[in-house]
Amino acid sequence: MIEAETHKPGKLQGKVTWRSPSNIAIVKYWGKKGHQLPLNPSLSMTLSRSFTQTTVSYSPSSSKGDISFGFSFEGNSQGEFSEKIGRFLNVLNEHFPFLKEFHLDIESSNSFPHSAGIASSASAMSALALCILSISETINNKKLTEEEFFRNASFYARLGSGSACRSVYPKWALWGDTHHIKEASDKYAIDFHDKVHPAFHNLQDTILIVHSGPKPVSSSTGHELMNKHPFLEQRIEQANQNIQGLTKALKVGNMKTFMEITENEAYSLHALMKSSEPGFILTRPNTLEIIRKLQLFREKTDTNICFTLDAGPNVHLIYPFEEKQKVIKWITDEILDLCENRQWIDDAIGDGPKMLTQIRYDN
Ligand code: PMV
Repeated sequence: MIEAETHKPGKLQGKVTWRSPSNIAIVKYWGKKGHQLPLNPSLSMTLSRSFTQTTVSYSPSSSKGDISFGFSFEGNSQGEFSEKIGRFLNVLNEHFPFLKEFHLDIESSNSFPHSAGIASSASAMSALALCILSISETINNKKLTEEEFFRNASFYARLGSGSACRSVYPKWALWGDTHHIKEASDKYAIDFHDKVHPAFHNLQDTILIVHSGPKPVSSSTGHELMNKHPFLEQRIEQANQNIQGLTKALKVGNMKTFMEITENEAYSLHALMKSSEPGFILTRPNTLEIIRKLQLFREKTDTNICFTLDAGPNVHLIYPFEEKQKVIKWITDEILDLCENRQWIDDAIGDGPKMLTQIRYDN
C-alpha cells in the first residue's frame, strides 16, 4: 500500500466528493479472521442506484492528539454512525499520519431511503476511503496509477467494512484468497468484470423491502459466531467450490448454474445463521412467502430470475434486463402486498464509484 509521506500542512485546505455504490454478494463473505480479513472468498455485483455520496472538507487542525472531525448524515449529526466513522478514521490514521494535522468535515447522504433497511456500510465506508485516499494524493503530491488507486481504496475500505472493499470496482468484484484465482487477495478486492460473459452485463437487482427496522443480530455478531461454528470448515470449502463454479458460469455465460449458485449461497448464509451457537433468524415470514411465489412464477413462466439475501430479511431479485417487463408486472400483481409499505428499489449492475469534486486551496 502507499507509503506515508512527510509534508507541511501549512494553510493547505480543500475538499473532495466521491459517490460510491453498494454491492450485492453472490458468493457471500461470512466470518472474519485477523484484522478484517475474510474466512472465505466472495464475489459481488456492484449496484448503480444505491450509493452514498460523501464530501470531506479538510483544513489545518489546531487540536493536538485525537483526529478532529465532524460528521453529518443528510444534514443531521448521527451519534452512532459518527462513532463508527471515528473508529474507522483512527484505523486509517495508522496509514495516513497526516489525518491528525487536519480537521475533517464529513458530510454524507444516501440515494436510498435511510428507512429501507438495506446495508449502507459498503457504500458509506468505500466512499469515505476514496475521499481520504484522494486527499492523501493531493497533500502528498503523489498521483497513483488508476489501478493502484482503486486497489489501495479497496484495501482501506475493507478496514471500515469488509464488503466495502468490493464496491470500488465497476460491475463485478472478487475478494479473498482462493486457489482457483492467483491474483485474488484477502487484503483487497480485484476487478473481475473483464472475466464475465456479456450475458451478465445488464443484470438487474430489484430489492423487495420486507422489513426496514433494526436487525435483531448485527452482521458483526454474525461474523464473530462463525469462528466457533460447527460447520466452519465445510463453509470455507463450500464457498471456495461456489467461487470456482460461479467464475466458470460467469465466464461462459451459463445462466442456469449462475442462478443455482446464487440461491445456494443465500440459503447457506441463512442456514449458517440458524446453526450458529446461539442461532438466530434474520428472515421474516414474508421473505419466505416471496421465495415460494418466486419458485412458482419461475416454473410457470420459465423466466431467468433468482433471488439472493443479504444479512437481513429483504429479497434481492436478480435477472437479466430482457426479463424486466415480465418481472415488474409479476411484482406489481403478486408481490407488493408482501413488502413493507409496498416499498421496493429498482437497482441494477453499475459502473462503480465516481469522483464528483476535488478542490484544493493553497492560501
Ligand atoms: O461487510 P459486512 O461486515 O457488513 O458484512 C457483509 C456480509 C454479507 O452482506 C452478508 C455478505 C457480503 O459478502 O456482502
